[in-house]
Amino acid sequence: MKKIFSAILASCLALTTFVGCSNSNDKFVVSTNAAFYPYEYIGEDNKVVGIDIDIAKAIAEEAGKELKVDDVEFEAALAAVSTGHADAALAGITVNDERKKTLDFSEPYATSIQYIIVKEDSDVKTIEDLAGFKIGVQNGTTSQTILDSESKEGVLKDTNTKVEPYKTSLLAAMDLKTDTVDAVVADSLLAENIVKENEGLKCLELVYADGSTTKEEYAVAVKKGDKETLELVNKVIKELKDSGKIDELLLKHLNGED
Ligand code: ARG
Repeated sequence: MKKIFSAILASCLALTTFVGCSNSNDKFVVSTNAAFYPYEYIGEDNKVVGIDIDIAKAIAEEAGKELKVDDVEFEAALAAVSTGHADAALAGITVNDERKKTLDFSEPYATSIQYIIVKEDSDVKTIEDLAGFKIGVQNGTTSQTILDSESKEGVLKDTNTKVEPYKTSLLAAMDLKTDTVDAVVADSLLAENIVKENEGLKCLELVYADGSTTKEEYAVAVKKGDKETLELVNKVIKELKDSGKIDELLLKHLNGED
């Protein structure tokens, strides 16, 4: 009995080594965090939909595989790629040097800027006006990185500003409604949607007193050194960009067509 068990265990282990735990060969596994309209969100029938999911479908198709979408927390979506649990992550991921240390990125397919969400009667105009505020951000995002660094050593230094990480930006916005936080910082399209769907809130571009703004580019993340997937992804991104399809997808999701 014991022998049989260890034989099974041994073959399981061997199998795991070959297939790398997760990505069985007939599936293209994409990790995401479906709390980021219009890039990924929960649509009808509780399905994960969005611009990124449509892009992921095109990538899987090019790879000749069936698409499997894993909806996890944002940081976990990035980690899934570096640990080999997903072939790629599509989650409106901003390319930056820190992330480039552990992941490889495709050509960018979209741009974004940070937005500040506040109560409708707020007179906040610049990031400096957030001094002393409790600010909600989605955990692991560039909104968090920017606010953390500004409050530690930047324009919000020594102002007793607190950065509160949340599982999603929407949860942070719910806490803004009840004054548990004083502002939320999130990527532009998501911020605009949160404001549209929640009375009493407004949003504005995150600008510094000197007039400068943030600018970010979204790209697909793959495992460091995974040249094959990167080439495949870049081919698809180029086709989608050149044919105007990415703009079409944006309009489609902004118009509420899943
Ligand atoms: N662009 C921001 C970043 O890369 C936010 C992305 C959040 N994406 C999501 N699917 N929740 O940090």
